[in-house]
Order: sequence, then C-alpha cells, then structure tokens
Amino acid sequence: MVTKTEFSMQNVFQLANIEKACFGKDAWTINNLVSEFHNEFSHFFSYWDGDKIVGYACVRIMYEEAQICNVAVLPQYRRRGIATQLLSAVGDFAKDCGCERCELEVNTANTPAVQLYAKCNYAVEGTRVNFYRKSRYPSRDAYTMVLRLSDEPAEQ
Ligand SMILES: CC(C)(COP(=O)(O)OP(=O)(O)OC[C@H]1O[C@@H](n2cnc3c(N)ncnc32)[C@H](O)[C@@H]1OP(=O)(O)O)[C@@H](O)C(=O)NCCC(=O)NCCS
Repeated sequence: MVTKTEFSMQNVFQLANIEKACFGKDAWTINNLVSEFHNEFSHFFSYWDGDKIVGYACVRIMYEEAQICNVAVLPQYRRRGIATQLLSAVGDFAKDCGCERCELEVNTANTPAVQLYAKCNYAVEGTRVNFYRKSRYPSRDAYTMVLRLSDEPAEQ
C-alpha cells in the first residue's frame, strides 16, 4: 500500500535503511532526509509491507512542474510493481497540485530505472553529458525524462 509519508524520525530511519541498501556510499544520510522533509516543496510517498517501509519516492512540486528526486525499493522487494505504484501515486499527486509535467534525471546506464520510467510513460527529452560528478555506473550522463500530466498537446 502506498501512502503519503509524514515526517517522523521513525520514518526517516526506515528511509535511510532503504537508501543505504539501494545506493551504498551515495545514499542520502539521515540529515539529508530530515532536511528534505523540511523543504516546503518536497513530498514523500512510501510503500508499506505491514509496518515496514520497503520502497519510497520523493518529489518536489514547484509550481507547474514536479521534479522526482528519488525512487528506491529494497532489493528483496523488486520486480513486484512497487516502484510503478509509487510513480503512479506521485503522478496523481502532482496532477492534483496542478502540475503539467513530472521530470527526472536518471543515469543513462541505470537500465532498471530507465526501463521503469519508460514503462510508466516517461519519455526521454534530452541527455545531459557528464551530469553526475561521479557515478557508480559506467556512464556519468543523465537522461532527462518527462511525463506529461496535462491533456494539452506539447508545444512544438
Ligand atoms: C529502479 C527500481 C526503483 C525499480 O523498482 P521495482 O519496484 O523493482 O520496479 P517495478 O517492479 O515497478 O518494475 C516496473 C518495470 O520496470 C522495469 N524494470 C524494473 N527492474 C528492472 C530490471 N532489473 N531490469 C530491467 N527492467 C527493469 C521493467 O520494465 C518492469 O516491468 P516488468 O517487471 O513487468 O518487466 C529499483 O530497481 C531500485 O530501487 N533500484 C535502485 C535505486 C535506483 O536506481 N533508483 C532510481 C534512481 S533514478
């Protein structure tokens, strides 16, 4: 089940565990998570297995644009549609907030994530060369991927 996540240190500790399991030394720390929770533009969504958070997504809503900062699922819970449900909840929320598009950057070599976003109707809008200062993947380039939320046709 996906819920919007309110700030509590208990939730932060759970999210920090997911970060560590998914990103190792590049993980957001407890301090990073606390400050993100206190960012007025940021919203967290969690997927729960009982009382345990097993996946989460973070989105910043800035006027008509939603920027997805992170999506992560514990390794032992992957390929069950959890990230797909998180992205769907984020997209619905962004649309309710009046956003016209959801945007994100993803390492071009992070195949599971690129395929996840493509399956959730995000389209590659461009490539940012050397976007990452350092990278755990063979590439430092990022795709900018965009999901259009408004029913208006895209400007040419
Ligand atoms: C990317 C990630 C969030 C996917 O989570 P998930 O819950 O396993 O994703 P889902 O089960 O919803 O998968 C949906 C689709 O994504 C694609 N996908 C997911 N994992 C994949 C993999 N390992 N290889 C190829 N495609 C993959 C598939 O198209 C999949 O659909 P299918 O299972 O019907 O084939 C997860 O692998 C993860 O946490 N990775 C580490 C953190 C990360 O890189 N986050 C993204 C940062 S931008």
